[in-house]
Amino acid sequence: MKRAVNIAELRRLAKRRLPRVVFDYIDGGAGAEATLRENCRAFERVRFRPRNAVAAGPCTLETTVLGTTIDLPFLLAPVGSSRLFYPRGECAAAAQAGAAGTVYTLSTLSGCSLEDVRAASQGPLWYQLYLVGGREVATQAIRRARTAGYRALVVTIDTPVAGLRERDLRNGGAELCSGSLPRMLPHVPQLLAHPRWLMDFLADGGMMKFPNVVLPGRGAMPYADVGGALENSSVSWKDLEWIRGEWSGPILVKGVLTGGDARRAVDAGAEAIGVSNHGGRQLDDVAPSLDALPEVIEAVGGRAEVILDGGVRRGSDVVKALCLGARAVMVGRAYAYGLAAAGGDGVARAIGILRDDVIRTLRLLGCHDVAALDSTYVQTLAG
Ligand code: FNR
Repeated sequence: MKRAVNIAELRRLAKRRLPRVVFDYIDGGAGAEATLRENCRAFERVRFRPRNAVAAGPCTLETTVLGTTIDLPFLLAPVGSSRLFYPRGECAAAAQAGAAGTVYTLSTLSGCSLEDVRAASQGPLWYQLYLVGGREVATQAIRRARTAGYRALVVTIDTPVAGLRERDLRNGGAELCSGSLPRMLPHVPQLLAHPRWLMDFLADGGMMKFPNVVLPGRGAMPYADVGGALENSSVSWKDLEWIRGEWSGPILVKGVLTGGDARRAVDAGAEAIGVSNHGGRQLDDVAPSLDALPEVIEAVGGRAEVILDGGVRRGSDVVKALCLGARAVMVGRAYAYGLAAAGGDGVARAIGILRDDVIRTLRLLGCHDVAALDSTYVQTLAG
């Protein structure tokens, strides 16, 4: 793992350790996976315009997002069910983000409680909110997040239903979670083929629940209920007004791809906009996030911070997004592959790979401070 030189190699290691159903859950996208592919390709259409023969100095990577100063221009995105990838996965990832001086965003749909994740990390934490279980359940989670010291709320608005993830259907994801032996049996051999993962999974308590979704009278939501719960939890602009009233800290609205939605989010009180298509996992054939960035930045007009996610696999991708106006980026799969490959060490490796590449790219570009990056350092080729 320490020899992995890029995120693609961490991905290969993750594929080797995980059963197909878990690997494909991370790796896959919705529908024909066109947006998943395009998210990465959009970065290839951006070319650098370096300023050479610029005196070298130490690079400044520090930036401020929603009032928190971080040492890196990238944050860890919310990735649900990380505990399936590695024992106590959310705690492991949060600890490494903190050690690297950046934000970890905990998904509502996590296997570790928000209090345990807080205890595991020295760094800043954000909480990503889905309204699964309704407003009452969300109110509780918001209160717990505030008490535990989470600094910002990330409200994801692109998930009125789960996207059509064909790989999950093929791999028997729902059957394996059903708890019914006859339904599970045909799909069990893929688990047995990965004994190292299976031992870890069983030692960590087996099938995780969702301890941040506490249902009245029933306790933590069982895993099998997640699909139905998501379908009953779509968030509306009215809900956002309500959330604004419940949470006094900063709010990032995640899942914006148009200027119209960006304006609505800012009008509803968001301090940051997350330009995101959920890593190509929701509506397929939407624009790659990088292509949607200019429209959102223009619509926001400086009234909110703009953070991009989707398709970031290299430090140079981070730099390109900053050149095009993002304040910072979030990475999802890049660290999820690392977590799945080797737990906390894998996350640290993913962060290290991206950090070193950001620094090298800045030096080669002749710009030593992420705050000084702008569109004059890049040229975007026609799609
Ligand atoms: C996600 N994402 C996500 N987003 C969110 O708001 N809540 C969630 O629970 C999840 N869960 C989740 C699981 C997995 C396995 C992945 C890969 C992604 C989306 C995530 O926050 C982010 O938008 C994308 O991952 C960004 O794209 P890349 O970096 O994976 O290409």
